[in-house]
Amino acid sequence: MKSLRLLLAGALALPLVLLAKPLRIGFAQTGAESAWRTANSESMKAEAAKRGIELKFSDAQGKQENQIRAVRSFITQGVDAIVIAPIVETGWDPVLREAKRAKIPVILTDRTIATADESLFACFIGSDFYEEGRMAADWLAKHTGGKGTIVELQGTPGSAPANERRKAFADALKDHPDLRIIDSQSGNFERSGGKQVMEAFLKKHGSAIQIVYAHNDDMALGAAQAIEEAGLKPGKDLVIVSIDAIREAVKAVADGRLNCTVECNPLFGPKVYDTVAKILAGETVPKKSFNKDELFDAANAAAALPTRQY
Ligand code: AHR
Repeated sequence: MKSLRLLLAGALALPLVLLAKPLRIGFAQTGAESAWRTANSESMKAEAAKRGIELKFSDAQGKQENQIRAVRSFITQGVDAIVIAPIVETGWDPVLREAKRAKIPVILTDRTIATADESLFACFIGSDFYEEGRMAADWLAKHTGGKGTIVELQGTPGSAPANERRKAFADALKDHPDLRIIDSQSGNFERSGGKQVMEAFLKKHGSAIQIVYAHNDDMALGAAQAIEEAGLKPGKDLVIVSIDAIREAVKAVADGRLNCTVECNPLFGPKVYDTVAKILAGETVPKKSFNKDELFDAANAAAALPTRQY
């Protein structure tokens, strides 16, 4: 009797299971420029798999036009929600208007956009890039006694992290007139870019360089390699500060090869999907929510290593 009931219950539940379609989410990722980005893509993919979400993942290979094309294709496919990590800040309004007309909510992650119409996206989830740049500058001022000549390795031109980290750092230096940026170039957030630009800086400015400020760890690690190849000791002959706190950089700080890295946590897959679920259920979500980030230097890097997740 009991087994007959179980059989009947199973048979009734079956059509419901078949009817419950998985959530379909399109994610327009920037590319794979850095270890941070790889960790971010992994977090989005792994969490989608865990929750049974059908994730349509698009790698734009660093080109905004590819991202816009991916968003249009998500709209045509009628996905439930679109997630974008915008490569650059400008140029998003037309495609976001198309998504709005199709009634597909857009969630911006990682990077913000510049728009006069904030109704074009449901919300933003990521880090406060301005705060990261300020933390890097404050650390530098404290540990150099407010004196030194700096070269800056910028991220992708026009991207929110490059714009905000540059501005925050420059704003903070206004209180420290003896900390001066003598050159600033983009290494595109890539390790090879950081190395190439640092080689050019060393050729041009030689021993006039005392400090390197890199907008991310990959460029800082590339610069460290260029400094070693020039016969100098990164972290000792030249102070290096950067942003992201990927495990490799935290280890380099513990080893004394880099001096400080400000965290920018990429592991927001769970938060993004929780937010998508709330939006689709008609709940109100905060328009902008920022991760809380820490800073690692010689005082805490070694202790942080065993629990570093990315
Ligand atoms: O937008 C976040 C930045 O993009 C990270 O700092 C960098 O590593 C990445 O490529």
